[in-house]
Amino acid sequence: MTVTHLEGKGFRNLLDFSLSFGQGVNILYGDNAQGKTNLLEALWMFTGSRSFRGAKDAELIRFEEKKASLTLQFKAQGRDQEAQLQIGDGKQALLNGVGPSPVSVLNGQFCAVVFAPGHLSLVKEGPEGRRRFLDQAICQVWPKYASLLGEYHRCLHQRNMLLKDVAFHSQLLDTLDIWEHFLSSYGGQICSIRMRYLERLAPTAAALYGEMSGDKEALYIAYHSKAQGVPWDKSIEEALKQSRKDDIAAGYTTVGPHRDDLKLLLDGKPAKNYGSQGQQRSIVLSLKMAEADVLKGITGEQPVLLLDDVMSELDPRRQDTILNHAGAGQVFVTCCDPAPVVRLTEGEVFEVSGGMIRPGLFKEE
Ligand SMILES: Nc1ncnc2c1ncn2[C@@H]1O[C@H](COP(=O)(O)OP(=O)(O)O)[C@@H](O)[C@H]1O
Ligand SMILES: [Mg+2]
Repeated sequence: MTVTHLEGKGFRNLLDFSLSFGQGVNILYGDNAQGKTNLLEALWMFTGSRSFRGAKDAELIRFEEKKASLTLQFKAQGRDQEAQLQIGDGKQALLNGVGPSPVSVLNGQFCAVVFAPGHLSLVKEGPEGRRRFLDQAICQVWPKYASLLGEYHRCLHQRNMLLKDVAFHSQLLDTLDIWEHFLSSYGGQICSIRMRYLERLAPTAAALYGEMSGDKEALYIAYHSKAQGVPWDKSIEEALKQSRKDDIAAGYTTVGPHRDDLKLLLDGKPAKNYGSQGQQRSIVLSLKMAEADVLKGITGEQPVLLLDDVMSELDPRRQDTILNHAGAGQVFVTCCDPAPVVRLTEGEVFEVSGGMIRPGLFKEE
């Protein structure tokens, strides 16, 4: 997957632009608040997913304007393709001239993996972000997984409602049995798919982490659940029965894939508690790059890597691993100081200043 050209009008603070990119590393440099992340966001929008900053559509449109449009030329599945996005009253997409359609038509057509500083929460914070990472990564490779998650959450909602009522109406216990059965069936499928995905992701991420640390540190990733494991449906059903009393007291369901976690250990110790800033950053990057590798292994397409402010806090070896690894595909990297990055790569360089993007390295006079 390669981006060849991007045009934008009315997007964020970016002045209208029309840019061609290199096949390897593309470096976007500039001071703070100039528009670097905005450009990555513009590219990301073509995945058909929500902004990685969690922005609403209206926030993507330049202040005082009513609409924005973006046109992307890219190579995928061995041919040149073009996608357009129109953002105004809602968002619509055209793919190779066909449309306008809902942006979901772009899912799986243009693939990217993004690292943004906010993703450090993957290591630093609670399990929710790690589950979201896992689920989103799986949705990119097996789109049907999204509907499975939807069914599971529908059943979960039913059980949670019942938990609140059952304390007053014991005849509802039979109904609880039924919902627990459905919940374990969907939950079992979710856990099995997550395990299958992790069998690919975990060793890849560990290998990348090893490379970054010069094999001085080892990353270990394990799935953590209150249910006992295979067969997952039976063990979830069992766990639900066992926690029923507690769940009735709590008023919600305390076991199941919606409560599971990924344990991230560095040399056997939780990275959240003991990892340095650079180590935590390296873990998230390993996970993201592994996500890209797994996607390539399954779909045959190497996703574009979008790396926002990754270089800070990393020693040259770690920076090098990222840029070399990314060398297998196309990567967009933002930074304030291009010097270390330029030293490590032969990529194309763009200066971003006041919303204007200019190709080339501009030296101060
Ligand atoms: N919809 C918008 N219209 C105009 N400017 C915007 C809009 N959204 C964000 N900005 C401006 O864009 C700038 C931030 O751009 P960003 O890409 O995050 O900077 P950086 O170069 O540090 O990554 C801020 O000054 C912000 O005010
Ligand atoms: Mg930024």
